[in-house]
Amino acid sequence: MTGTPDEKSLKGLFIRTYGCQMNVYDSERIRDVLRPLGYAPVDAPEAADLVVVNTCHIREKATEKVYSELGQLKRMKEASGGRMTIAVAGCVAQAEGEELIRRQPAVDLVLGPQAYHKLPEMIARASRAIGDRLETEFDTIEKFDALPKTREADGPAAFVSVQEGCDKFCTFCVVPYTRGAEISRRVDDIVLETRSLASQGVREITLLGQNVNAFHGPAPAIEGGDDWTLGQLCRHLSRIGGIERIRYTTSHPRDMDDDLIAAHGDTPALMPFLHLPVQSGSDRILKSMNRGHTADHYRDIIARVRKVRPDIAIASDFIVGFPGESDADFEATMQLVRDIGYAIAYSFKYSSRPGTPAAEMHGHVSEAVKDERLQALQALLRQQQTEFNASQIGKSLPVLVTGKGRNPGQMHGRSPYLQAVHFEGPESLNGQIVDVKIVGASLNSLTGELARVREAAL
Ligand code: SAH
Ligand code: SF4
Ligand code: F3S
Repeated sequence: MTGTPDEKSLKGLFIRTYGCQMNVYDSERIRDVLRPLGYAPVDAPEAADLVVVNTCHIREKATEKVYSELGQLKRMKEASGGRMTIAVAGCVAQAEGEELIRRQPAVDLVLGPQAYHKLPEMIARASRAIGDRLETEFDTIEKFDALPKTREADGPAAFVSVQEGCDKFCTFCVVPYTRGAEISRRVDDIVLETRSLASQGVREITLLGQNVNAFHGPAPAIEGGDDWTLGQLCRHLSRIGGIERIRYTTSHPRDMDDDLIAAHGDTPALMPFLHLPVQSGSDRILKSMNRGHTADHYRDIIARVRKVRPDIAIASDFIVGFPGESDADFEATMQLVRDIGYAIAYSFKYSSRPGTPAAEMHGHVSEAVKDERLQALQALLRQQQTEFNASQIGKSLPVLVTGKGRNPGQMHGRSPYLQAVHFEGPESLNGQIVDVKIVGASLNSLTGELARVREAAL
């Protein structure tokens, strides 16, 4: 590590992030890795010496966005007289790195999601115009070990990566190819990172993983050193001073074990919100997707979680128009949604991804039918989301204050159920958990009145 760079040696860094929360986390870590080299964030790509585009490959549209962004950056690079370095990171970099360099020669560096700890070395090589411009090896363990153990917090809520990669191979999905095999981080490292965040005022952590509940990281030697489950990890982290709220995302029904379900009942810091993607309500389609569970198995998990934590808010992801999906299959999805009742859900039209088994399947569904189904599903989900939000009116909720609201005097924060909450209050509340009486609700947020300021935590 070098010391803090003086003003003159600062270089501008601009990171554009697409895709999931894992990419958001990775972008923060890229910033951490580059800080000792004198890179400091700037507000616009034009002002940057280094632009990192952290990409997503999940659907065709996401990938296309990357190429159009790179076109714009190329023009900026030319205007800068070639001073700007363009790096492409993330899942498109992993999936089609060679093609990226061919399609957009203005790109200087390409690095996959498991290689960004090598960025300093790559930048040095690029400046001397030697060596490879492409790093897409899967060195996940090496990456975890190479990352700085402590981090700079940015507000009272933070992501902490605990698991990466996916071995599930759903037939529609590119993630197992772009992120590699399932690997868990060591509990010691997770604790160090969480403590460092807590000491900077972080109150809420969200544990991240492509299949976060497949976590099986080695426990500290003092605790026996065996592998721990996510439930054990959550209980352990909840004892770190200052950490009042724990969330995790995204989980898979197959890894929803009894202990994790029990943790929702016995660990008050574990927030009453569960994002458990199901994709479809039809057993035939679930089988063809290789999800490894039935719709009833999913219903059963939700019932068991609700038994130990009756107020838990359930979230999910859905795909409509998977190859072979009939009207009856789609109706089974609608029925599952009616049965569960979601607080929030994300739904997508199936997008055929080259190299995945589903791309080769028969019975691709027309765009028109996909559109129709998506509209029907989203109308139902919107109705449920609106009802869930309205059900909070009259309650007093503990809200983690995350910043100033849009209007003067207004603050915003998040409820235990991950709803955005707006209320009038002083700026000094930022970072605290306060009680807010909910007086209004809409599709996307709640409004409330400050009821009680608790004693500042710690
Ligand atoms: N690991 C998580 C989700 C990862 S991707 C899980 O197993 O559920 C996030 C979401 O994108 C998925 O839940 C799925 O709904 C959607 N998705 C993934 N591949 C897709 C594709 N080819 N077309 C449309 N949506 C897709
Ligand atoms: Fe993709 Fe399935 Fe893995 Fe989720 S579990 S990342 S949907 S392959
Ligand atoms: Fe996208 Fe990669 Fe995340 S494909 S959704 S950025 S794991």
